[in-house]
Amino acid sequence: MPVVWKAKRVPCTTASCASKNIACLTNPKSFRSNSRPFSRPNSQGVGFGSPRKANPGLQGCEGVESTSCCRALSEEQDVRRRGPLEKSNLFNAYFEPFTSTKEEKELVLASGEQYSLDQVIYRSQNGRLLDVQHDMEALAIYGPEYWKALFDERVGKTSWPYGSGVWSKKEWILPGIGNEDVVSMYEGNSNLFWAERYGQMLGMTDLWVKQCGNSHTGSFKDLGMTVLVSQVNKIRKQNKNVISAVGCASTGDTSAALSAYCAAADIPSIVFLPADKISLAQLVQPIANGALVLSIDTDFDGCMRLIREVTSETPIYLANSMNSLRIEGQKTAAIEIVQQFDWQVPDWLIIPGGNLGNVYAFYKGFKMCMDLGLTDRMPRMVVAQAANANPLYRMYKSNWEVFEPMQAETTFASAIQIGDPVSIHRAVKALKDTDGIVEEATEEELMDAAALADRTGMFNCPHTGVALAALMKLRENGTIAPSDRTVVVSTAHGLKFVNSKIAYHAKEIENFASKYSNPPVSVREDLGSVMDVIGKRLGTTGM
Ligand SMILES: Cc1ncc(COP(=O)(O)O)c(C=O)c1O
Repeated sequence: MPVVWKAKRVPCTTASCASKNIACLTNPKSFRSNSRPFSRPNSQGVGFGSPRKANPGLQGCEGVESTSCCRALSEEQDVRRRGPLEKSNLFNAYFEPFTSTKEEKELVLASGEQYSLDQVIYRSQNGRLLDVQHDMEALAIYGPEYWKALFDERVGKTSWPYGSGVWSKKEWILPGIGNEDVVSMYEGNSNLFWAERYGQMLGMTDLWVKQCGNSHTGSFKDLGMTVLVSQVNKIRKQNKNVISAVGCASTGDTSAALSAYCAAADIPSIVFLPADKISLAQLVQPIANGALVLSIDTDFDGCMRLIREVTSETPIYLANSMNSLRIEGQKTAAIEIVQQFDWQVPDWLIIPGGNLGNVYAFYKGFKMCMDLGLTDRMPRMVVAQAANANPLYRMYKSNWEVFEPMQAETTFASAIQIGDPVSIHRAVKALKDTDGIVEEATEEELMDAAALADRTGMFNCPHTGVALAALMKLRENGTIAPSDRTVVVSTAHGLKFVNSKIAYHAKEIENFASKYSNPPVSVREDLGSVMDVIGKRLGTTGM
């Protein structure tokens, strides 16, 4: 059964606390988790309410409302109260080479290879991707109930920057950044939509869609970009010459997020886009935000090769998801999901995958919750790929033995038209560790799935369509059971992809039956004609 996630506030009973009526963050015991089952989520799912405008001037106690009790203790005093000073000062994160296995991890630990997050570095000495590693021992001092209460308390608050869904988890993301360096547009806190009617169509009772596309630039990329651009902002404040601009190769959504966050912080941005392979709505975003937009006659993989060369020879900072700072922000969507389920883990998570950074980000978020005791298990994870760009699916089908980059074919899910994913090893680790699955969807399957789900009140992008089509297949073959709690990650807003949706409904796509098309009906300005059309749709009983 769906459950609410709200923490219960009980009065603080600390003798020195002037505020007897509201929960006090300086006293972790004044918070209790309140898991109460309920039969139906309020409105259209489990949301976090509308994000309010950030108020950098508000100096609350770690992002909660300022009670006199909270004001009485400084942040540092508060931290000291909780544990030995040498531990509580240790909230720390750094880059470490990415490792897939325990043995690799031991080798890395023995080598001592690690880097400050203030360094401009994307790969390890022997060319591996990097991972942001947190001092888990220091975080563990505080215990799961403290973290749950803290995160719950920050939801919907204005105190800068904790009202952001990403920065509400600041200690788990970038503990070393000052609040004044954060570049945020109050991203995250997205709705977890209870897909009741769509679930019924598939014979499911507990189906949810995490609406990551309902965000500032219309995709989940905002979650990672706020972290990356904040760190760049911090480094540039120390020395502007280290980073002259930030650049990325993009299938549309990364460039939109990068240019918006850079514009907010007055940092130059440069985006490399494959010509004619992104939607018009995606193209206009970096143009409007003042980025230098390079439209290059190649595909995403070609753009990626070029940006890597450019950023290795200039002080232009690379913002693609091989940069693990972005993964840190994106992982908050997983933490949010368990928070929205009152700190319970779903059985399945289905996510569309292209460059494969996001699946690893979700894995990291779920894993951190489990490692710090907030949850007790991992969900099974499913990556859904377009059949026209499915290198991970092919590898999965070879029992994880053979990975071959491919030439990705055109797909309506244009943001995942990637044949040589940078984060392939990260994705394989996430899937192997969670008994995961890879599924694929043809063009017609993904457009049909998006259109069918739209009929139940959603407005899906084609990438979400890929995930929904994968869900249908896994339901049909019995892998996902009717009562399994399943979350589909919606990665972008459907409004960014109206051209393909219009073509579908107009039945203009070659070789498509467009089973769920719903074209507008042209009708003369005449009551009889209008009534005829309505009668045809509603039948005689509806008139
Ligand atoms: C809308 C959308 N969905 C899915 C993805 C895939 O994410 P990842 O490349 O991290 O696998 C992207 C990435 O560009 C995207 O923009």
